[in-house]
Amino acid sequence: MNVLVTAGPTREAIDPVRYVSNRSSGRMGYAIAAAARAAGHAVRLVSGPVALAPPAGIRPIRVVSAADMLAAVKRNLRWCDLFVMAAAVADWRPRTVARRKLKKRAGPPRITWVPAPDILQAIAPLKRKAQFFCGFAAETHDLAREAQRKLREKHLDAIAANDVSQKNRGFESASNALTVYFASGRVERIGPAAKTQCARRLLRVLTAPEKTGKNPREKKLQKKSKNS
Ligand code: C5P
Repeated sequence: MNVLVTAGPTREAIDPVRYVSNRSSGRMGYAIAAAARAAGHAVRLVSGPVALAPPAGIRPIRVVSAADMLAAVKRNLRWCDLFVMAAAVADWRPRTVARRKLKKRAGPPRITWVPAPDILQAIAPLKRKAQFFCGFAAETHDLAREAQRKLREKHLDAIAANDVSQKNRGFESASNALTVYFASGRVERIGPAAKTQCARRLLRVLTAPEKTGKNPREKKLQKKSKNS
């Protein structure tokens, strides 16, 4: 199977030396890419700026901004059977990037923010029937409701939700706990466990036979997984 994964944060430039970003370490996405490769799949990893060594046998496609990540995802989308969007993409970017460094003595800059591209929403119309898309949702409250809303609004087949209000989970942590909601109604709980273990389990639930659901895309993916 061909697996496309995104990981890490994006950076949105303010001026030549400043940017806004977030606390994503990239660990979860890198662990998913490594687990997919270890399971014998072909893997492409689109990575925002992170301080991680590439997973064995994978040369990350490196990007900086949300716009860069969208372009890289579009270039690799047709190739994949399974797409896991684990990157923490910026929601907003400064409307313009100052060409020269903003001077401190000029006082706090007034920045006009505009939405960064929503990658999952932008690519939803490009999705082929046999492809399976899984997003992530990091939430501090109303985990189930928010994750299921994003599953619908972003036209996903599944979404892996994690509660980032808990210590030792999610952002910057080596461990995680996920609840995976499928469009079919299936729900799978993973962890708490090391991100490497969560990644292996996540891949398994995304590609393993479903006990109850009837989503034809999941079935197709499972067949492909068995054959690869
Ligand atoms: O809306 P929210 O950022 O919580 O949604 C999370 C999911 O959407 C993640 O899979 C994330 O990678 C994706 N996302 C995206 N483009 C954005 C923001 C988030 O594809 N601009």
